Amino acid sequence: MTDAAALPDSVTVIRHPLVQHKLTLLRQKSTSTGEFRRLAREISLLMAYELTRDLPLEMTGIETPLEPMQAPILSGKKLCIVSILRAGDGILEGMLDLVPSARVGHIGLYRDPETLVPVEYYLKLPEDVAERLVIVVDPMLATGHSAAAALSRLKQARAEQIRFACLLAAPEGVSVLTQAHPEVPVFTCSIDRELDDHAYIRPGLGDAGDRLYGTK
Ligand code: URA
Repeated sequence: MTDAAALPDSVTVIRHPLVQHKLTLLRQKSTSTGEFRRLAREISLLMAYELTRDLPLEMTGIETPLEPMQAPILSGKKLCIVSILRAGDGILEGMLDLVPSARVGHIGLYRDPETLVPVEYYLKLPEDVAERLVIVVDPMLATGHSAAAALSRLKQARAEQIRFACLLAAPEGVSVLTQAHPEVPVFTCSIDRELDDHAYIRPGLGDAGDRLYGTK
């Protein structure tokens, strides 16, 4: 929705027609919990395709039924997908459909009601996270504070190559995240109009966690 010309270079809006169509269905309030989960998974798989389009390849020798050949395979240590709990898990599943061998990390953050600072309550990362391309997933980039805190924590854990993926972003969240971590590529399917007074993205899709898990 926001003019792409105003976006930092590190931000990519995925405009593939299938992604945009599925996102429209996802947003609708009439979409059921089961359908929401299925659509989130499908969109995430398509996002993973975009996020990984520059992964390095190397040649390896294989044998087809007809003859030997040199063919490309992914080189080196591969991916780690880090889900920001709990709604990130709705994105994680679709990405794992495309890259089943990826390692998985989880980070849980809550906002201290007095200081409003994100506080970590859970962290589990693969031991070799520093050697992997880390894709951090959270469906909604709203204020950007949790995402920025999660990326800082991953850098503390020595992750070097990090990308961030969300379904929807608010302009405010994009600004906070890209100022805190200007070198981290950010992928989203839409930059919506604004954040409201309750930190919901408008027009948005509501509470992603509640819609994924039917908790409201
Ligand atoms: N988190 C959500 O689930 N929805 C929003 O609109 C903002 C943050």
